[in-house]
Amino acid sequence: ETVNEDALEPRAPVVTIMGHVDHGKTTLLDYLRKTNVTEGEAGGITQHIGAYQARLDGRLITFLDTPGHAAFSEMRARGANVTDITVLVVAADDGVQPQTIEAINHAKAAGTPVIVAVNKIDKEGANPDQVMNQLMAYDLVPEEYGGSTIFVKISAKQGQNIDQLLEMILLEADVLELKADPTQPGRGSVIEARLDKGRGPVSTVLVQQGTLHIGDPVVVGNTYGRIRTMQNEKGEDLKEAKPATPVQITGLNAVPSAGDRFVVMADEKSARAAGEEREKRAREEVRNAGSVVTLD
Ligand code: GTP
Ligand code: NA
Ligand code: MG
Repeated sequence: ETVNEDALEPRAPVVTIMGHVDHGKTTLLDYLRKTNVTEGEAGGITQHIGAYQARLDGRLITFLDTPGHAAFSEMRARGANVTDITVLVVAADDGVQPQTIEAINHAKAAGTPVIVAVNKIDKEGANPDQVMNQLMAYDLVPEEYGGSTIFVKISAKQGQNIDQLLEMILLEADVLELKADPTQPGRGSVIEARLDKGRGPVSTVLVQQGTLHIGDPVVVGNTYGRIRTMQNEKGEDLKEAKPATPVQITGLNAVPSAGDRFVVMADEKSARAAGEEREKRAREEVRNAGSVVTLD
């Protein structure tokens, strides 16, 4: 694939929040979602699509709902590198725990920078300094100790320093110089997918390159179809989605898997042919190996 440097445009960073059980991942996401929603552009009903965008000073940040560490590595194993930045949540009253270390290892394997959100600083017994000391053993050294890791002390519950966290994410994004070419046909990855009784297969996809349009013929893993509807997390109908935008789509013939890649094809016939070919290959491989396979 040739890269047209002139067509590259800055895109929003894609962030995954990870951390030990009960350290506050969901609370942080809920807080962001709530403040984002009350910011209130008019629109539909907020829906859970597994990803959404927060805004600070007119800039967007795409958050993926914490897929769990297992789902994260499963997606990576499928070749879906969807995350630019990992936010590691560590509760200041509990410190580094086994799944904190697991999350650090996932982020290292994925090669994403880590921003540490030391959470629950409102709690009695909170000891953010201890968290910083503990994390130095994992090469996460705060700037004040001569390292390069950004630490932000937050209370997800009370909304303390959340803007600062968003600022730091944008700062890290600037360093990464994230860009994509919106003029290409859309391509990206499936975040989650399910079968809806009324609407058929419903999938949340992250556009990573190009622009996805209503009516585009697509092949998604070993499924295919034409983009029938496309909505953001606010339930608003979109005509197109540019890089780093998560959208919920309908119009596929079957339910794809998280981590499957999608590509816009020239026409519906070739999308169908590609999808059917992949489906056939998958069936054959299952027959031959007697085990589950993943396709690129
Ligand atoms: P799992 O999804 O189970 O791994 O947990 P989680 O990381 O999503 O944690 P969750 O957001 O569910 O928070 C766990 C508990 O900690 C809840 O009771 C939250 O209300 C509480 N909590 C989260 N953030 C804070 C905070 O900043 N301060 C205080 N005091 N409590 C918090
Ligand atoms: Na919890
Ligand atoms: Mg949670």
